[in-house]
Amino acid sequence: MNNITAADHVVVAAVSSSAFGRASHIAKQLTLPLVSDWRVSTAAIALLIDIDSAALQLIRPRPPGPVMIDFASPRMEYRRKGGQNELLGRAVGVRQGRSLTILDATAGLGRDAFVLADLGCRVMLVEQLPILAWLLNEALAAAQISASEHVRAAAKRMQVRCANSMFLTAESGVVIYLDPMFPDRGHSAAVKKELAVLQALHGDNATIGQSISATDEQLLEWALAQSTPRVVVKRPLRAAPLGGKAPSHAIAGKAVRFDVYVLGNLA
Ligand SMILES: C[S@@+](CC[C@H](N)C(=O)[O-])C[C@H]1O[C@@H](n2cnc3c(N)ncnc32)[C@H](O)[C@@H]1O
Repeated sequence: MNNITAADHVVVAAVSSSAFGRASHIAKQLTLPLVSDWRVSTAAIALLIDIDSAALQLIRPRPPGPVMIDFASPRMEYRRKGGQNELLGRAVGVRQGRSLTILDATAGLGRDAFVLADLGCRVMLVEQLPILAWLLNEALAAAQISASEHVRAAAKRMQVRCANSMFLTAESGVVIYLDPMFPDRGHSAAVKKELAVLQALHGDNATIGQSISATDEQLLEWALAQSTPRVVVKRPLRAAPLGGKAPSHAIAGKAVRFDVYVLGNLA
């Protein structure tokens, strides 16, 4: 595992005395400090551990609520019915009878990956931050025993890997999906909170309203150099294409746009 997140940025805390053992184990696993009270910590963010759940909590005066990854949440169910999923499916090339494998090279909180798996794709989620990769794996384990049949089915099609995607060679034929950091694209409190959490996890390099990674363009270069039939990049609706590189076509929604680079035929 790489360790991009500086240890003093993130602390681990148990939410109750019965979760202390689990929190201590996870802190060791992620090589992060364990604290007894996250509210008085000088870190930017806390990984809050309960007996059977975990969440990311921003540490600041009047902190917003915690951010969890829960593929069976009402919010994910709501999103399932939204039009943006259909656009994402079209962008990667979902079609009845076609079996697609997607490499989500910027997995983050796994929302888009779950949508793609729910649309029937097999999805490899690659996330560079160990703490997010750990949370994604936890969420996947919970989804695999969800009461909801479609959540269980989607979870079976997902796999998580903690790595910098740029050091990987994509399996031939997989579609590569990129959603690097980009300016706030939503107005809901939940979206803003998630962005703030991702920003805090990335430390001082991150500034909301700017691209967090100076390597986003290199990530696109990496993707285009793979043996892939298609690269899809999520962008804010009116932003320039990543690295100024014009896509083959774009699929626009209300707030986001999917830039599609066609490099070959889908199987
Ligand atoms: C905007 S978030 C992705 C959100 C995601 N699409 C979702 O639906 O939750 C971008 C994520 O990509 C990760 N990332 C950026 N560059 C990466 C790389 N080269 N390899 C792996 N992960 C990367 C960041 O750590 C961050 O968690």
